[in-house]
Amino acid sequence: MSKPAVVVTHPVLEPAPALLEDACEVRQLPNVYKHPVEKLRQAAEGVQGMLTQLMDEINEEVLSAPGLKCVSNVAVGFDNIDVAAATKHGVLVTNTPGILDDTTADFAFTLLAAAARRLVEADKFIRGGDFKGWAIDMLLGHDIHGATLGLVGFGRIGRGVARRGRAFGMRVLYYDEFPAQPDVERELGVTRTELDQLLEDSDFVSLHVPLTATTRHLIGAPQLARMKKTAVLVNTSRGPVVDEEALAEALAEGQIFAAGLDVFEREPAVHPKLLKLDNVVLAPHIASASVRTRSQMCEVAARNLIAGVSGGRPANLVNPEVLDKRG
Ligand code: DGY
Repeated sequence: MSKPAVVVTHPVLEPAPALLEDACEVRQLPNVYKHPVEKLRQAAEGVQGMLTQLMDEINEEVLSAPGLKCVSNVAVGFDNIDVAAATKHGVLVTNTPGILDDTTADFAFTLLAAAARRLVEADKFIRGGDFKGWAIDMLLGHDIHGATLGLVGFGRIGRGVARRGRAFGMRVLYYDEFPAQPDVERELGVTRTELDQLLEDSDFVSLHVPLTATTRHLIGAPQLARMKKTAVLVNTSRGPVVDEEALAEALAEGQIFAAGLDVFEREPAVHPKLLKLDNVVLAPHIASASVRTRSQMCEVAARNLIAGVSGGRPANLVNPEVLDKRG
């Protein structure tokens, strides 16, 4: 029996290539950062599955390729895929939830601490030859312990950051349109508030929402204006959740103290005003980038794809209704 054909849009880590080679006829696309949509559409012709990454815009044009059964994204986020169009065309969409939560939460907390305690500025200071001796007012930052942490979005990653905050002796607030169960709130020692209240009360605001039409620019000028002058904003979710221009203004004007950003509105471009500011720590979308987690993400995505093109039920289906309809 011939193996199902699949397209792999970008290189992936072991064991994914070995798993895929074993079960499928693999077509690897050339290693370019962003494939034009027409190339993705061409690539989708004559294959049953696609292993995609967050740079790939998988729109209806791609999803309507005849015979396409499954698009497996090597990420927990899937805002790069038009899921409604996939469902309409009977294409399964899968992601990689549950693997990267703690790795991402570790990194959100790393950004929080680095921004609060001015670690990157301090490093530059020394390398620039400016350290001439200890000084009482040198590079003063803000305390993490005893501060209030506000989590916007309280899914698995938000909860992981809550645990880290509690371990640092922080008071933890969260905002999520779906309140957590009372026993979860009790166990984690967190309190739900409305977004505006959270912004006003928090010393640290960390974002953990998916990118949707509702969360695009959830944090813009009006929200930044509510935050404390001493507050730090951390974003490890998706860049467009924050209005980058408004954030750059707020940081430049000292409307908030600092920010730690792992994601950007127009990746890989970073707003030029942010690049000039010392009070922002910038990272190139690496919150999930530990050796173990990235390899597991690739493995899970490969297994999802193999199941999706072989008539099985992938473990991480974003649109299970496609299979339910198939019966
Ligand atoms: C995701 O998985 O959505 C991250 O942004 C990349 O790990």
